[in-house]
Amino acid sequence: MIVTEDILHIHSYYSPNDLYDKIINGLNKLGKDVSKVTLDDLQPVDEFHIRGDAATKELIELAEFAPHMHILDVGCGIGGSTRRLSYETGCRVTGIDLSNEYIDTAERLTQLLNMQEQVTFHACSALELPFADNAFDGVWSIQMNMNIADKPTWLKEIHRVLKPGGRAVLYEVCGSTNTPLYFPVPWAQDGSMSFLVPPASFRDAMTSAGFDIEVWNDKTDLARKAFANAKEPEGEPDLPVLGVYLLVGNDIQTKAYNLRRNLEEERVSLIETVAVKPDSGTAGVRG
Ligand SMILES: C[S@@+](CC[C@H](N)C(=O)[O-])C[C@H]1O[C@@H](n2cnc3c(N)ncnc32)[C@H](O)[C@@H]1O
Repeated sequence: MIVTEDILHIHSYYSPNDLYDKIINGLNKLGKDVSKVTLDDLQPVDEFHIRGDAATKELIELAEFAPHMHILDVGCGIGGSTRRLSYETGCRVTGIDLSNEYIDTAERLTQLLNMQEQVTFHACSALELPFADNAFDGVWSIQMNMNIADKPTWLKEIHRVLKPGGRAVLYEVCGSTNTPLYFPVPWAQDGSMSFLVPPASFRDAMTSAGFDIEVWNDKTDLARKAFANAKEPEGEPDLPVLGVYLLVGNDIQTKAYNLRRNLEEERVSLIETVAVKPDSGTAGVRG
């Protein structure tokens, strides 16, 4: 993997210590029998995106992936939606993520759930996927473009590893009418690790990479509703036993509050899209 300053900077943001042990400790504190842990038990911590498992289930319906397929989850985090996708569809799913700590945790949680035959993981960058051309029947990527400055390279990589006729399902935070953003936000401590573009530019980047857009839904209103009660924290944070703060730090309530402000003031938007790699492989490429 080519390790640039940008990649190291993003990597350090997503590198908590002892993450797996902290999650197991949380499950114990909640009185869960760890040998019988379920996907639902892990939801509060392993679905690190706006509207969590509810959004994942909507995307699974939209994707229409069939059980025989092999899907690539790009920027899978600790694998919550990777496992949910496999569980609901019967697909084999490979997850990749930049963070070694997340991938280690994803592998161990997957073993705990006895899903390791169907769900596997690799630590690598989405800008340099270690897979052959046309290797996957489908691609799935949830809220990672925010950390990618070089969107053309990322989208070309996804397009390259997808079989002709295959579908890519993306659920992504974009910019909006106004700038700048309030920081920190859940994906970035400051502007040096956040690279949002407006939805129209994102769509153009996808078609330039060779995709035909089949579905394009604006989910910003649902995101606004989901964060409508996020308040500016006062004093010591009052954190739940299990939560995504274990992944990105105890200032998660400030991050959620800033996301609320960014959504309400039209600084951030949320889209879901299904895009197809045309059968000819290059039919959609422009320039
Ligand atoms: C907001 S989290 C979303 C994680 C996961 N998709 C989920 O919904 O739970 C963003 C993820 O993108 C990953 N990421 C950021 N830049 C990346 C890159 N260049 N290559 C691979 N993963 C990256 C981060 O490590 C992090 O796990």
